[in-house]
Amino acid sequence: MIIAIDGPAGSGKSTISKLIAENLGITYLDTGAMYRLFTLKLLKEKVLLTDKDKINKFLENLDIDITNDRFYLDGENVSEEIRKTDISENVSKVAAIKEVREKMVDLQRKFSKSQDVIMDGRDIGTVVFPNADIKIFLVADLKERAERRYKEIIEKGQKVSFDEIYENIVNRDNLDSTREITPLRKAEDAIEIDTTGKSIEKVKNEILEICRNRNKL
Ligand code: DC
Repeated sequence: MIIAIDGPAGSGKSTISKLIAENLGITYLDTGAMYRLFTLKLLKEKVLLTDKDKINKFLENLDIDITNDRFYLDGENVSEEIRKTDISENVSKVAAIKEVREKMVDLQRKFSKSQDVIMDGRDIGTVVFPNADIKIFLVADLKERAERRYKEIIEKGQKVSFDEIYENIVNRDNLDSTREITPLRKAEDAIEIDTTGKSIEKVKNEILEICRNRNKL
């Protein structure tokens, strides 16, 4: 079984996907984290985003690993680093590079070969798994999405201003949905859920109900 959850930043994808994975006993893959890990690699190595040769070389030797809630780059746990502002500010530009997307999509498809999965991202229902059993597209008001992200980051002890977060979300929405290659969009057969003002529990139950109605459980 493959469940695809797409939507813009802060729409609730990862929180909801984790809960659904637990509830159904399936594996969750945060595909945004994969793009974040590679962005961290490029920033660490000071690679210019125009330097295709170097980018291809690093893609060939990519060493990322995701275990439960921990994210590893070259064997090092970088779970906190990949959520920081410099990564959020650069990740959409990295995710717009054709070669990067090809590599990540390939890894995501391989990941699902041997197991039932729920994956969240921007192109899961449209590109990675156009035949996913269930496709959900989560949306929410921009202000609420920024507030959720702000709260999340502050709780982790990082210092940011609300305006900084708001601006980052506006920029990423714009870059993610206007990029040339596989931009963020709702698959025609995806079910859209607006999570504005809804509790996590309510959205989770709505999705579980959709799963039940499709006789997939
Ligand atoms: O889900 P996130 O905010 O951690 O994702 C970080 C960025 O990665 C996002 O701004 C766009 C990109 N991304 C993508 O292009 N395709 C995906 N399947 C997942 C994320």
